[in-house]
Amino acid sequence: AKSCQAVSLFTSDKADASVLQTLAGYGVKYIALRSVGFDHVDLKEAKRLQMQVANVPAYSPHSVAEHAVTLLMTLNRKILLSQELMRVNDFRLDGLTGFDVHEKKIGIVGIGKIGETFARIMNGFGCELLCYDPCPRHELEVQLNIRFVDLAYLCTHSDVISIHCPLNKTTTHLFNKELFSIMKKGVFVINTARGPIINTQDLMQALDAGIVGAAGLDVYEFEKGLFFHDHSSKKTDDQVFQKLRLYKNVLITGHQAFLTETALKNIAQTTAYNLNCFAKGALSINALEK
Ligand code: NAI
Repeated sequence: AKSCQAVSLFTSDKADASVLQTLAGYGVKYIALRSVGFDHVDLKEAKRLQMQVANVPAYSPHSVAEHAVTLLMTLNRKILLSQELMRVNDFRLDGLTGFDVHEKKIGIVGIGKIGETFARIMNGFGCELLCYDPCPRHELEVQLNIRFVDLAYLCTHSDVISIHCPLNKTTTHLFNKELFSIMKKGVFVINTARGPIINTQDLMQALDAGIVGAAGLDVYEFEKGLFFHDHSSKKTDDQVFQKLRLYKNVLITGHQAFLTETALKNIAQTTAYNLNCFAKGALSINALEK
């Protein structure tokens, strides 16, 4: 970044106070994020250093919502086990029973752009939709047959819970021992939002206790430095991750929910727009501190 005026960061990059100070020392004045989430950037420090930050507020809510559905259905219909059996010519159906998603209660935590897209898909499945969002958009109640409820009600009644809220102080470890303890036995938990929203140790206890029937995770609490890198030649020393991936009823993908051609094209276009605004001395509509 030395001698650059702008840098472009992704979700896996850390932009805490000390990184920002170093970048500012190099002369960097602009951070163009290629992500929706900006929990990895210390915005207060950026403001203090007079650095502008812009994100890509929406590139394809479909990419993430569709991946959440993929995780849910892959777990539900035991696709991974069926493939293992298929490879060894075992065509018995033992252990492959799933459930009809139709008419199941789906809890959606955070119904912004991605949560709404997920809700539309699940509405198509014929599910009952329970949503928790501190800023409920009541017009969705009629449009999507949604019922806004509090988080405790959502947890006690949902057969599937899908997380689509941002990571912040309030949502860090929102899914913890207390919340898992009130969930319906056998609930499927899907997280395509941010890893630290779930306390992983507490999730594993809930899996051990049979409270959580399955977990589909595209994000992981300690994914920084792990995901997006090739660790095939060296074993990861993250004991929590080692244990988590051994569960047969846990499906983990390495933060790839966004990864579709449409999303990549939109990310590139918006990032180029943000950088052009900076080059012209104009304020981008995507600036995080206006
Ligand atoms: P959005 O800003 O459109 O919606 C977020 C919603 O969460 C809002 O309706 C907000 O009111 C709600 N919310 C805020 N605090 C909450 C809380 N405590 N409990 C419940 N709901 C709360 O954001 P969008 O585009 O829907 O993205 C959601 C998140 O998905 C992002 O913040 C990001 O962390 C994650 N994401 C993950 C990707 C992946 O590849 N896995 C890619 C893109 C986004």
